[in-house]
Amino acid sequence: MGNEFKGEAAHSADYFGDTRDHWWNRDYLKLLGERWGLGAVHEALDVGCGVGHWGMLLGEQLSPDAWVIGVDREARWVEKAAERAAARGLGGHYRYVQGTAEALPFADHSFDLVTCQTVLIHVADPAAVLREMIRVARPGGIIAVCEPNNLAHAMMADATTFAGPVDDLVAMLRLQMVCERGKAALGEGNNSVGQLLPAMFADAGLLDLKVSMNDRAVPLVPPYDAVWQRPMVEEMLDFAEREYGLWSHDETRRYYLAGGGGEGDFAAHWALALRLVRRAADELRAGTYRVSGGVVGYCVSGRKAAPGAGAPPGPPRPPPRAGAARRRGAAPGGRGGGGGPAPGGSASLPQEAADRVEAPGGVDGRSARPLSARPSPRGAAARGAGVRWRAARWGRARRRPASTEPGSARPAPSVVARSRAWPTPRGCRRGCARRPARPPGSSRARRIRGALRVI
Ligand SMILES: C[S@@+](CC[C@H](N)C(=O)[O-])C[C@H]1O[C@@H](n2cnc3c(N)ncnc32)[C@H](O)[C@@H]1O
Repeated sequence: MGNEFKGEAAHSADYFGDTRDHWWNRDYLKLLGERWGLGAVHEALDVGCGVGHWGMLLGEQLSPDAWVIGVDREARWVEKAAERAAARGLGGHYRYVQGTAEALPFADHSFDLVTCQTVLIHVADPAAVLREMIRVARPGGIIAVCEPNNLAHAMMADATTFAGPVDDLVAMLRLQMVCERGKAALGEGNNSVGQLLPAMFADAGLLDLKVSMNDRAVPLVPPYDAVWQRPMVEEMLDFAEREYGLWSHDETRRYYLAGGGGEGDFAAHWALALRLVRRAADELRAGTYRVSGGVVGYCVSGRKAAPGAGAPPGPPRPPPRAGAARRRGAAPGGRGGGGGPAPGGSASLPQEAADRVEAPGGVDGRSARPLSARPSPRGAAARGAGVRWRAARWGRARRRPASTEPGSARPAPSVVARSRAWPTPRGCRRGCARRPARPPGSSRARRIRGALRVI
C-alpha cells in the first residue's frame, strides 16, 4: 500500500503509488482492447514504462501468448519493473530495458503494438517520439497512447473549492497554465498534450484513428473505504504533509518562472495552492471531503500503413529516418530540447485527416487492414515452408517450421512458444536476447493471466 518510491530522484517517483493501479475501469480496458484489436497482439512495446503499471494493465488484453517489452530511460525503473513483473508471476512475458523514447533501441517494424501512458506529456518533442514509436511498429501495427489534459483538471474542483470564491478557482487555473507553459518551454513536455494527439496522429500519417476518453472517475465520498479510495486518500494526505501544491515547491516555482510568471505572483499562488491542499487533507481526516475525481484522459490509437495500403491522405509526412547514425544524434532523455508545443498551438485537423478519425467502434473504408487479417511474417511462415522469420527484427536469421494447425493461419502455439526469442535491444552486446523463463503459451501462464483479470 502507498508509494514505496516517493521522494526518490528518478523521474515521476512521487507518482508511482498504488493509485496508479486504479486509474482505469477494467471493463473499459477490455473495451479498448476490443476497439484496438489487442487480442491479435503478440509483441508489444510499452514506451516510458516506469515500474510497469500501464504495460501490465494493458497486457491483460493482449493475446495470451503475448510478450511485452518495457523501455524507460531510468535504470531504476527498469530494474523495479522487472521485479514487479516477477512478483506477479509475469516474468516470462515481460522484459524491461533501458533506453530513450527519442531513440528506441529496437529495429524497424518490431512490434504489433507500441503504446505509452503519461509519457508524451514529459518529452520535449512528442511528435518526434510518435514518429519513433511508428518506426518500431510493424506495418498494420497499432500505436496507442493515453495522455491527459491536465489543464482541465485544474477546474475539476472538490465540493468546497467549487462553492468557494471564484477567484480561487481562477487563480489555480492560472497557476496550472503558467506552470504548464514553463514546463514545455524547459523542454520537459506539454502537460496537457492529450488535447493535441489526434492532429499529431493524423499528421504522422497513421490510419484508422480512434479517439476516446478514460471513463474512470475516482469519487471520494466518506467513508473512503473502497479498495481504490484508500490509496488515493493516502496519497492526498501524503502530498499535503510534504507540501505538494501542484508539484513540490521548487518544481512548481521553476515551472512558473519559466512560464513567464513573477516571483511575487508565485508566492501568492503557492500560498493558495497549499491552503487548498491542506484544507482538503483536513476534510479527509474529518470525513467531510467530497469530489467526483478522475482526469480528462485521452486514448488515441492509429495503425501504421501496411504495404500496398497506399499513401494516406493528409499533410506531408516527415522524410523516412535514415537509421541508427541519425538516431544516435537524437537528444537523450528528452531534456534540453527546443521545448514542447505551446498549449493550444496545434495545427488544425485537415478535413481529409478528420475524415480518417473514426468514432469509437466505427470503421473507416480506407483503414489499414486489421492486424489479424494482414499478411505477416508469422502468417507467411504458416502458409509457406521455411520462410525467413524476422531476421532483421531480432538480429539473427531464423527459420520457422512450416507446420501449422490445420485450417489455422498461425503455427501451432507450441511452435510459436519454442521458436521465439526476445528482441535484442540495439547496442546490447550480450545477454539480452533471452528466452522467456516460462513458455508464453503454457497453461500456467494462462492461469496466472486469468487470475489477474479478476483482481
Ligand atoms: C509518468 S511516468 C509513466 C510511467 C508508465 N507509463 C505508467 O503509466 O505507469 C513517465 C515515465 O516516462 C519515463 N520517461 C520520461 N521521458 C522519457 C524519455 N525521453 N525516454 C524514455 N522514458 C522517459 C520516465 O522515466 C517515467 O518512468
